[in-house]
Amino acid sequence: WRQRSELSSMADLPPDLDSAMSALDQQFWVSTAKLKDIVARFREELKEGLEKEGGNIPMNLSWVLGLSSGREKGRFLAIDLGGTNLRVCLKDGSGHGPNGKHTLTQTKYTLPATLKTSSADHLWTFITDALATFLSDHNLSDKYTTAPSHRLPLGFTFSYPATQHRIDHGILQRWTKGFDIAGVEGEDVTAQFRSHLAAKNLPVDLVCLVNDTVGAMIASAYNDPQTIAGAIFGTGCNAAYMQSLVREPASVPKLELREDEWEALDREGKQTGQETVKMAINCEYGAFDNALRVLPRTEFDDAVDRESPRPGEQAFEKMSAGLYLGEIFRLVLVGLVRRELLFTQNSKSMSKDGGELGKEAEERGLEKLKKPYTIDTGFLSAIEDDESPQFRQTRDLFNKILHLSPSDPEIEFCRRLAELIAVRGARLCACGIAAICLNEGIQQGHVAADGSVANKHPKFKRRWAEALGEILDWGDGNDGPIRLTSAEDGSGVGVAVIAAMTLERAQRGVR
Ligand code: GLC
Repeated sequence: WRQRSELSSMADLPPDLDSAMSALDQQFWVSTAKLKDIVARFREELKEGLEKEGGNIPMNLSWVLGLSSGREKGRFLAIDLGGTNLRVCLKDGSGHGPNGKHTLTQTKYTLPATLKTSSADHLWTFITDALATFLSDHNLSDKYTTAPSHRLPLGFTFSYPATQHRIDHGILQRWTKGFDIAGVEGEDVTAQFRSHLAAKNLPVDLVCLVNDTVGAMIASAYNDPQTIAGAIFGTGCNAAYMQSLVREPASVPKLELREDEWEALDREGKQTGQETVKMAINCEYGAFDNALRVLPRTEFDDAVDRESPRPGEQAFEKMSAGLYLGEIFRLVLVGLVRRELLFTQNSKSMSKDGGELGKEAEERGLEKLKKPYTIDTGFLSAIEDDESPQFRQTRDLFNKILHLSPSDPEIEFCRRLAELIAVRGARLCACGIAAICLNEGIQQGHVAADGSVANKHPKFKRRWAEALGEILDWGDGNDGPIRLTSAEDGSGVGVAVIAAMTLERAQRGVR
């Protein structure tokens, strides 16, 4: 592991921690050969998803046809239900490219912690209340009415897997990313949302339901014609790309359309200047390898899965996405504390200070560490990137978040561990995009990336690129022909533009 680590050393590890680190490195390092095995299986699952409904990777049809012209104009609302916030945006004006004159006004509402495990009624009430507040704060309530042609069009970024037979509806397949709200799975989320909008008499018209990956791709493609995919490396991990719809041999065998529907699609292709009409596919590849045939799972990944509300699901996401990286780190530390290899000084001094309350005090010292999901991805990147003298930043974080005062070797160990986990996550993330590109014959282009891991972890992009280069045999991946770029605001601008495209398309008579 010493050879692979990029971090400068600040202290020697005692022999027992050193051998623990070697063992962890064996478990977490994903070799080039392993990456290639993963990609081979990934390609099969992506293909199966296009062949039939209910494949392990769902390959959800989005009904977003073609890319935006960049000239879409008008006033649109966008709602984005994220893992921690609900964001409401108003896009006004014309166009969204370099010469576009649009404004985006937005407000974030923090999701109450209990919402994730509440009921459908709580969820939609929270969302419609936030929307009502936004409309009144921006003096929009009186400008529109509930009459069909006087409503403000709304695009909804719903970043969970949904089966869509049209762009304006979606049946939730299953919650992901720790959400567990009763009464929504298997239901049409737009119908539930619309009935709450109607009950509150809100003058808005829900015109499209869009995944965050699709929003990122469409928003970016306008400014960057080299965009080949939209990817989220954040709380969750997923991507979308444009799939050509060829009838014979069928490029998407599971898409069964009547003759008149194919004709409408062909017309739409011509209308939007495409030779073959394309549809955005939301892969939902966080579910890759749920059968655990190829992923290099560790005992810590098994534990993350067991503790989650949906064991056996999102196997790939649970090893690579931001929601889980900190938790994997915590579980490794907990295992080492149990073996009395870490934080022994901390617990001893706590018990000494605690006098008669020694045991309790000792527990108090490690109490924070025992709590699931206390450590987030920001914690990992902060300690890995700490360049402050004597790693003050890391010490402060341990103090503040975990109430622990690590020794120098402990700090050294934790930095290496944070690196191991982040490197594995970035290397795994490259597999999904590699598989899409190989299946679609894409040899160059930009992957518009969004999400906290891509944006806030400075080393992520480079690690991802290196792994992609190894998989695709480029040698040095840094300058490879497939690159990560920063996505435009897909969940705000992107979904508002898709709402505008949908209305324009409806005028042409295509659903
Ligand atoms: C999860 C969701 C998916 C979303 C991704 C990133 O994988 O299931 O819909 O795109 O997280 O937010």
